[in-house]
Amino acid sequence: MLKLSDRVQATAASSDARPTFDIRGLTVEFPAITGVPTVAIRNLDLRIERGEIFGLVGESGAGKTTLARSLLRLPPEPGRIAGGELLFEGQDIMSLTEVELQRTRGRDISMIVPNPRSELNPLLTVGEQIANVAQVHLRVSRREARGLALDILRAVQIPDPERRMTAFPHEMSGGMAQRIVIAIALICSPKFIVSDDATSGLDVTVQAQILELLRRLAQDRGSAMLFITRDIGITAHFCDRVAVIYNGEIMELAGREDFFFRPAHPYTIMLMAAFSYNQSLRRLWARPEPLPGAKVHDSACPYTLRCPLAQERCRIDRPALREIAPGHYASCHFPVRR
Ligand SMILES: Nc1ncnc2c1ncn2[C@@H]1O[C@H](COP(=O)(O)OP(=O)(O)O)[C@@H](O)[C@H]1O
Ligand SMILES: [Mg+2]
Repeated sequence: MLKLSDRVQATAASSDARPTFDIRGLTVEFPAITGVPTVAIRNLDLRIERGEIFGLVGESGAGKTTLARSLLRLPPEPGRIAGGELLFEGQDIMSLTEVELQRTRGRDISMIVPNPRSELNPLLTVGEQIANVAQVHLRVSRREARGLALDILRAVQIPDPERRMTAFPHEMSGGMAQRIVIAIALICSPKFIVSDDATSGLDVTVQAQILELLRRLAQDRGSAMLFITRDIGITAHFCDRVAVIYNGEIMELAGREDFFFRPAHPYTIMLMAAFSYNQSLRRLWARPEPLPGAKVHDSACPYTLRCPLAQERCRIDRPALREIAPGHYASCHFPVRR
């Protein structure tokens, strides 16, 4: 029989092994006025481990925002989660009541989006806005909430935080306003943070500072993060693992080193080549978007029309995501090996 201490250890170990988010078979659709709905996320599996920063890269329209918002059960209108499980800390988000869901959002899971100004209430001081979140979710007194707001303003490195407590959002620069949004997202020390293209509107230096800050704060709090971006270069510095999404499906997924030194999917290589100054590399890999109306069949690889390596098999046999090396996955019949 297990001693109590062993049992505690065993449960601790098993709960540690559980990922923060375990997405299984997620499908999200947008209804069409006529005919079949558009599938924006297709039967997607993804595990985000405790404390990791997981990068998700893809071109615009790939399904990143739809995925991010579906994790909070808020797909963009008129989207609908058509199937799958969303296990957050072992509990299915799909089975929560509206009240439980409200409590989870902002406290256990929080989301950071671009356009900080549209997120903030123009009529309230930033101090009030941050304190309100703390008061609602952490059930602390007004006084304590204000104290926590001041602490988090210091943590996000707002200069002169006492004075900033009484400032209004329009009195702040874009970078400062983004720090306020991050402060609001982090004040409850959420277990999971989704950042959806959150720094794309900022200039490069401010972006780098804010990313560094975000990473440090997430690490200090042990929060896991899904970090979404269109910029594959950012993920190299910022993320522990990276996945590429195309057409609502994961094309490749690997640890940072494998991803950048041994990319295997032609689509990943194309994305990297697109950021390169090497002209011949770009010519070799980049193919323009297919003409509108040129649709690949559901039973073909969705990247067939743009892939320089496509063969007959790719047009008749849709590849599944499979492990091509330990921890390195690609959805391709002919992954590039080196
Ligand atoms: N409001 C909407 N109405 C209809 N279809 C949508 C809507 N939003 C997104 N979609 C569909 O979902 C796909 C993914 O969109 P989105 O998640 O916004 O991509 P990303 O964030 O990667 O740019 C789009 O290509 C489109 O087909
Ligand atoms: Mg988006």
